[in-house]
Amino acid sequence: MNKRAFIIVLDSMGVGELPDAHLWHDEGSNTLGAIRDHEYFYCPNLKKLGLFNIEGVGGGVSDPQGSVARMAERSMGKDTTTGHWEIAGLVSPKAMPTYPDGFPKEVISEFERRTGRKVLCNKPYSGTDVIRDYGQEHVQTGALIVYTSADSVFQIAAHEDIVPVEKLYEYCTIAREILQGEHAVGRVIARPFTGEHPFTRTSNRHDFSLVPPRDTMLDLLKKAGYDTLSVGKIYDIFAGKSVSELNRTSCNDEGMEITLKMQDRDFNGLCFVNLVDFDMKYGHRNDVAGYAAAMTAFDRQLGVFLEKMRDDDILIITADHGCDPSTPSTDHSREYIPMVMCGKHVKQGVNLGTRSSYADISATILEYFGVPQENTDGESFLSDTMSAAFFLPGDSPSDRELMEMAVKARERSYTPYSHYKVGAALLSSDGEVFIGCNIENATLTPTVCAERTAFFKAISEGKKSFAKIAIAGGREGELSPFCAPCGVCRQVMAEFCDEDFIVILGSPDNYREYRLSEVLPFMFTKKEL
Ligand code: THU
Repeated sequence: MNKRAFIIVLDSMGVGELPDAHLWHDEGSNTLGAIRDHEYFYCPNLKKLGLFNIEGVGGGVSDPQGSVARMAERSMGKDTTTGHWEIAGLVSPKAMPTYPDGFPKEVISEFERRTGRKVLCNKPYSGTDVIRDYGQEHVQTGALIVYTSADSVFQIAAHEDIVPVEKLYEYCTIAREILQGEHAVGRVIARPFTGEHPFTRTSNRHDFSLVPPRDTMLDLLKKAGYDTLSVGKIYDIFAGKSVSELNRTSCNDEGMEITLKMQDRDFNGLCFVNLVDFDMKYGHRNDVAGYAAAMTAFDRQLGVFLEKMRDDDILIITADHGCDPSTPSTDHSREYIPMVMCGKHVKQGVNLGTRSSYADISATILEYFGVPQENTDGESFLSDTMSAAFFLPGDSPSDRELMEMAVKARERSYTPYSHYKVGAALLSSDGEVFIGCNIENATLTPTVCAERTAFFKAISEGKKSFAKIAIAGGREGELSPFCAPCGVCRQVMAEFCDEDFIVILGSPDNYREYRLSEVLPFMFTKKEL
């Protein structure tokens, strides 16, 4: 059977400042807060799953259909790479180096020595200004234009007629080799340009990312034989390490289209998606309306995704940092990220509060696939968010088999008064089955239903946790297509089971699963006392 997990990263969709936001001058930043009241924002699917139930967000629904958490970034950074690496189980205790005064002498002279070319500029600079101001000198002398920004980047600009693109990429590889350890910048970027002064940049830009310094969940999944499919920037963020399939995208819409197509494939493993428009097109450009509209567009596609989810799929929607479009800063913001998880076996309405690291996502994914979490950071929340049915041993009976056992149990019903025979087969979380039938009494009131017989047998044998019950009933000699449990039995289920306990109703040829919360809405339980 294929097991599939989808992680969709809404790039920069933070949900409020982290306690240390002042260290980054990001006090008050709240990306979701900045867009949620805009008239273009309409996200009923995210709302229904529980996005607004997340701690500190506000405006949640009473019956969220997913499990949610707010997650703090433990790494010392607020960029895309650091955020994604932490999601994948790699916390970066040190910020990636930045160079507000240019790169140190030893780096530049080593680069000059190995490329055989001199370096121009070596300062933070705008990409268009740098070719306007240094382009001509570069064309005349063949020296390379090296510049940086507020991010951890080493950028090399060169005219395509002076330095052929392939040669420029070679120089980037050399820079990448030099920029390790103390000077391990996030990215080395080739910035080719063409034409005459003031020159134009070409589409041959290429990023040379830093390889994650140790294994992430992608490496562990791949080694265990699972697929690691990437959509959008994921491949580049991990420098291709342990990514089994690359799907680059040009916009959010295309990213979701590819993801929807992935749902039709029988892959076995993780599909890791990044939707970068939120950050690149709207967050950095302080475009609140655009950001809100992009969320609305995503939510519409999410609706299609949810419809197409298979029984064994899980989906986690999250982010990598903030980028509040309503603050004067156009930079990323140090924020909590949301975690919204859903799937057929995911509990509804679990609120995990605030978690101390994004890395908990990787621990959860690894546990979901049964892969030991070696060497990665984070703590799994899988047992809090998955229903008992998910943890059943592999050789547990199927729904159909349980139904057949219920029919069989029915043969022993003692029903001299009603002649209505019911059988039940109850599956405990450790995979054991307890059957029960209804047992009537001449004074009527001591009559016990089939379901309660099964429950009380199991409980008196020491069972405490239950996954499913199948119920079959009907008048003597015939099996009804649908026998609903009585109110008292539903109340007994509510006593011993979670809301996601599964009730299988119908007949062996035609049955359906219901959650207990569907069968007994607004239940009164011990939680109230
Ligand atoms: N009964 C059950 O055993 N389970 C149900 O879910 C519905 C009703 C029994 C009780 C009684 O013996 C007979 O069906 C008629 O009410």
